[in-house]
Amino acid sequence: MENTVGISEDNFKEVFKYYKRRKPPPSFKDVLHVNDAFQDGLSIPPTSISVIEEDELQSLGLLPPKDWKIFNFISHPDLLFVRNPFTENGQLKWIDACLREYPRNPNKTNLESCNIALADSSWWDLATSPEGRKEDLLKKLRWVTLGYHHNWDTKEYSEDMQGVMPQDLKRLCKLVAKVLGYEDFIAEAAILNFYHSDSSLGPHTDHSEPNMSAPLLSFSFGQSAVFLIGGATKKTRPTAIFLHSGDILVMTGATRQAYHAVPRVVCVDETPWIAKNCDNSKSEGVSELEQDNCRLKFKGKQLETQELNCTVKHDILNYVKTSRININIRQVLLPSMQSLS
Ligand code: OGA
Ligand code: MN
Repeated sequence: MENTVGISEDNFKEVFKYYKRRKPPPSFKDVLHVNDAFQDGLSIPPTSISVIEEDELQSLGLLPPKDWKIFNFISHPDLLFVRNPFTENGQLKWIDACLREYPRNPNKTNLESCNIALADSSWWDLATSPEGRKEDLLKKLRWVTLGYHHNWDTKEYSEDMQGVMPQDLKRLCKLVAKVLGYEDFIAEAAILNFYHSDSSLGPHTDHSEPNMSAPLLSFSFGQSAVFLIGGATKKTRPTAIFLHSGDILVMTGATRQAYHAVPRVVCVDETPWIAKNCDNSKSEGVSELEQDNCRLKFKGKQLETQELNCTVKHDILNYVKTSRININIRQVLLPSMQSLS
C-alpha cells in the first residue's frame, strides 16, 4: 500500500536520479534497446485492417502496417512499442507540423507564462526572426496543448477549455491504434513536449482523463531519450527503455496508470528523420534563388505540396539536432459521454 511506503522505498526516484545524473554520467548498459536482437518482450503481429489506401499511408508518412515491428515487454506486457513505422520523409512531416504548425494561437503554449505573446505569428516564425534569435526563443517553447487543453494546475480538462485536434494527427492516431487492435480510439487531447539536451520529465501518472481504459499514444521525434516505466506506486523499480526518433510507445491496460518519466535526453549521431539520399549541404548560406532550386521533394501525394525551402529545412534540422519532440495523445471521454459537461 502506497501510504505505508516510506521515502526509502521510492525506488522510482532512485532510478530517475541515476539516469538524470550529469557527473559522473550514468551507464546505459541496463537500458533496453528495442532492436533486432530484442529479447525482453514478445513480437506482436499487427492487426490486419481493411484495405488502407496507399495514399492514406503516404499522407500520414507511414510504412505499410504489415512491415511494422511491434513488441511488448516481459516486465510490462501492456506496454506496446512500435519501432519507427514512419517513412524517411514521414518523420520530417510530423516534426515540421510540431514546429511550424501547432505552436500558434489559439493552441495553448507555455510561452504565455513567460510573457511571450504570439498574436498572429507562429512561434517558429517569431523564434527564427532576428529578434527571436536574440531572445533565444527556440529554447523557450516547452509544451503545446491541442484538443482538450490539459490544465497544468487543476489537472482537469473542461469543456470550455478546448481547441481543435488537427485532422491529420487524429487520423494518424486512429490508424496506429487500429493496427494495435484498438478499433475505437479517438484522439481528443494532445500534449506536445519539447525537450532540449538537458531537459527531463519527472515521475508521474496520467490520470486526468475520465477514460482511463483507452490507450495513451506517445510519439518520439528528434533526439533519443531514456524512458522509465514503473508500476502503480513508486515502490516498483522502473524499467529503462531507449526511445528513438519515430518510435511509438502505447500505454494500455494496467500500464496506462503506471508511473513513468523521462530522466534524460540522449543525443545521437543517427538522423532517421531525414532521407539518407537528401543533400543538406546546400542549405547553409544560400541565396534566395538557390533556395528555390533546393527543395525537399516529398514522395507522397499530400506531402508533395509541403515542400520545405532550404532555409526552413536547415533551421528544422538544426533544431532537432539537439532537441526531442514528444507527441502525447489521450482519449478523454468515455464512450458513453458526449462532452465533459
Ligand atoms: C507526458 C509524457 C513522455 C515522453 O507528456 O505525459 O509522459 O516520452 N511524456 O516525453
Ligand atoms: Mn505521461
